[in-house]
Amino acid sequence: MARARLLLVLAVSLLLVLGLARPASCEPHLPVVVPVTKDTQTSLYTIPFHDGATLVLDTAGPLVWTTCQPDHIPAALACTSPTCKLANAFPFPGCRASSSGSSCPANSHDKCTVYPCNPVTVACAPGDLSHTRFVANTTDGRNPVRQVSVKALAACISPRDDKMLLEKLPVGSAGMAGLAGTGLALPAQVAASQGLPADKAKFLLCLPRGSAGGPGVAILGSGGPLYLLAGQPEDYTRSLQYTPLVVTRKDHPSYYVSVKSIAVDNAAVPEKALATGRVVLCTRTPYTLLRRDVYRPFAAAFEAALAKQIPRAKKTKKPPVKPFTLCYEAASLANTLSGYLVPTVTLAMEGGGKWALAGSNSMVDVKPGTACLAFVEMPGVKAGDGSAPAVIVGGFQMENFVLQFDLEKKRLGFFRLPVSTQCSRFNFTRTG
Ligand SMILES: *[C@@H]1O[C@H](CO)[C@@H](O)[C@H](O)[C@H]1NC(C)=O
Ligand SMILES: *[C@@H]1O[C@H](CO)[C@@H](O)[C@H](O)[C@H]1NC(C)=O
Repeated sequence: MARARLLLVLAVSLLLVLGLARPASCEPHLPVVVPVTKDTQTSLYTIPFHDGATLVLDTAGPLVWTTCQPDHIPAALACTSPTCKLANAFPFPGCRASSSGSSCPANSHDKCTVYPCNPVTVACAPGDLSHTRFVANTTDGRNPVRQVSVKALAACISPRDDKMLLEKLPVGSAGMAGLAGTGLALPAQVAASQGLPADKAKFLLCLPRGSAGGPGVAILGSGGPLYLLAGQPEDYTRSLQYTPLVVTRKDHPSYYVSVKSIAVDNAAVPEKALATGRVVLCTRTPYTLLRRDVYRPFAAAFEAALAKQIPRAKKTKKPPVKPFTLCYEAASLANTLSGYLVPTVTLAMEGGGKWALAGSNSMVDVKPGTACLAFVEMPGVKAGDGSAPAVIVGGFQMENFVLQFDLEKKRLGFFRLPVSTQCSRFNFTRTG
């Protein structure tokens, strides 16, 4: 509780630093809409930044960081300032630079140094906090409304470290946009820039399946509404089911939820891990990772349920294609509008909601003629290792879901879009 209050105070002082405590205007404060593209090479999701460059979305990221722009203006911050403390409050595990370099004695006038990290390669480097802006459109939930310039504080890394820090990120990306519930992550900063209450920040993600169908959509500064083409003429956030966002580790800004059980075609998968295990949502994980003690019984239950459904399923099994272990001849599976006809995987969420995954979110075509169960056994983690999450929900299982992260009510709203529409059906034509 004390920590929450501290973060709130820090967020407010951040607003003052940014000089955003501006008088109320007659303009309604609208949230911002950004297109979300899936990079086919890396399976990471990006949003536009500057001059064609993109930023990689990271639900667990506490900062926005980019390569330094030639005209960047470092924020005049001492290492003792609350904003600098906030920027260093969530050191990335494995980033050694931050532990060696972040000493800041009281009364120090040293300038603020931050340590942005590439979570894919776990590379990190020192940078400074700089004022930056990016152009985006406000939205009424149906269309873009008006172009605005969003102010933000971003960590900027020197060109010397560009190559190292951008390694394995999508071609054309200039950094990452953290979406965590912290004062320097993108949602709170967009809310502040738009004059929306930062401590009540909500945001919405609707991740697209691929790049072919067009971009998905993120709404920052508020959690909706969201209307999509070809769907019902209704706001999809009205259909959300909710589950609490739980804080498990104070030094970890990730979004954790609690999953009561996993069922395959209504039969609970026998395992005990979920009762205590943490479940985290992570856009930088392409396919959901399950700890071994969760994965093995789950894959066995899926295989058995599929065999019940299709008696020939055993005969049409294919050699596994890494990192997957359960693969089938695609032609042996029936196709439906919601993907292959396979047993439904259902996560029973705390609060009563059911996160149901049909074939389109549970099976992936790995090569022509072969479809695999799109879940992966967590590498390098022992069964039952309580220091690792039991489940890391990856991008593939979140695609075409409306996800509303409500940082004020500390809950996650989720809804699987009906087959008649997709996240790529936001109407990006401006009104008027
Ligand atoms: C804002 O919307 C207009 C109209 O759809 C579009 O041309 C423009 O690229 C958008 N701007 C940004 C920064 O997305
Ligand atoms: C998208 O929005 C524009 C502007 O409101 C509208 O004119 C157009 O008809 C919409 N497109 C579709 C397919 O509904």
